[in-house]
Amino acid sequence: MSEKFDVIIIGGGPAGYVCAIRASQLGLKTACIESRGALGGTCLNIGCIPSKSLLNLSEAFSKAQNFSKIGIETGEIKLNLPKMMQNKDKAVTILTKGVEFLLKKNKVTYIKGKGSLLGDNKISINSKDSEIKIIEGKNIIISTGSEASTLPGIEFDEVKILSSTGALSMSRVPKKMIIIGAGYIGLEMGSVWSRLGSDVHVIEYLDHITPGLDIEISNEFMKILKKQKINFHLNTKVEKISKIGNGVTIETLDRQNNKKLFEGDVVLISVGRKPYTKNLNLEKVGIHCDEKGRIEVNSNFETNVKNIYAIGDVISGPMLAHKAEEEGIAVAELIAGQAGHVNYNLIPGVIYTSPEVAYVGKNEEELKKKNLDYKVGKFPFMANSRAKAIDQPEGFVKILADHKTDKVLGVHIIGPHAGEMIAEMSVAMEFGASSEDIARTCHAHPTFSEAIKEAALSVDKRQIHS
Ligand code: NAI
Repeated sequence: MSEKFDVIIIGGGPAGYVCAIRASQLGLKTACIESRGALGGTCLNIGCIPSKSLLNLSEAFSKAQNFSKIGIETGEIKLNLPKMMQNKDKAVTILTKGVEFLLKKNKVTYIKGKGSLLGDNKISINSKDSEIKIIEGKNIIISTGSEASTLPGIEFDEVKILSSTGALSMSRVPKKMIIIGAGYIGLEMGSVWSRLGSDVHVIEYLDHITPGLDIEISNEFMKILKKQKINFHLNTKVEKISKIGNGVTIETLDRQNNKKLFEGDVVLISVGRKPYTKNLNLEKVGIHCDEKGRIEVNSNFETNVKNIYAIGDVISGPMLAHKAEEEGIAVAELIAGQAGHVNYNLIPGVIYTSPEVAYVGKNEEELKKKNLDYKVGKFPFMANSRAKAIDQPEGFVKILADHKTDKVLGVHIIGPHAGEMIAEMSVAMEFGASSEDIARTCHAHPTFSEAIKEAALSVDKRQIHS
């Protein structure tokens, strides 16, 4: 007899493990199947967490090199890359073990192995260490995440041709690093290795970096990154990648069909991610996917097959851990008969470079496209006392508000601690705030967040400090 559960979750990333905890809290007998050998998915193991650790460590290295400018005399500053990597790995282990503890604490059954759908609510679990096991679930949730996309005919070897996974664990600093794609991964990884001494060149197909970001923010972002010695090659299409001797060559064409050859020690391909559904047996049980391989679901996360749901990177929407977590909670609550819900209009985005970039809601281009009448308020960190005091004056806050009702429609920040500050704006927007509401809210002095208040004042041209 196979063991029976109320909920079985395939995939223990931010969507899956959060869903498992919530389902168990709601009294449902829950199992979570994970094949990686560690919980936390891409985010904890090979994504958000190791990258944020390396961003922090490399920034410390870069700051240390400039200590004498601020009156701190030290000896020669040297990089110990293996130690830096050990620190990163430690952060990952602590957090993945922490998730395992949370599952145990919440009485979720954690099953190690690869889950495949067998139909009739049954799942087989394949693992190297034990025989194939079959379990049965009243409800099955697929949260198997995503994997890095590559270019046609190119395979990652994680030595010279890297995905984000290889870029997070290089054993030496490449002299020259070529990055294909100026998105989140390209710019975060480019920042890390540039700070550690690599000559970084980013090739981007479009005429601007970070597609989807407010264009004004994107332009400012590129200007700042250029000052940090990251080189950009826009409007450039990659034609061929070859491994040669100790490195790689990349043949490209610009919009005028001019050829340009790039040579580097390594190339990082960061051109997006695709849903990971291998071994699930989707065709056999008849689950529909769209043209991008994403599992199709309705607004309750139900697939076309009864009692099978999907959440996180395997369905449509931004491939972000916090979006996946929200979906995990919502689907558990819906299964338990509650009113689970995700507000897709207010999923914030953060790029953890220096300075950080963060946004929530609509950008100016989206408002123009929708023919909405809006007002803009802006405030530069150059005029913010805290930013000036600690010599981080780059960037600005931009607030977009409805012209008639003054309701805030979008907030975009490039500047110090933008990723933390955006949370204030998410809450304000969830409560339907107007720019007037934000402008009349007392913000502590001296803080970076005063720039938000000033940007809100500036919506009606009454900012004080600029
Ligand atoms: P992305 O979608 O953010 O950016 C890919 C970039 O590659 C785009 O600018 C695109 O125009 C460009 N591109 C595509 N094909 C190209 C080609 N053949 N030649 C040159 N350029 C090309 O994808 P990325 O950076 O790989 O990130 C993947 C996912 O991971 C994203 O969905 C992102 O949301 C997520 N992520 C989020 C992070 C965060 O929240 N801080 C950090 C890292 C990843």
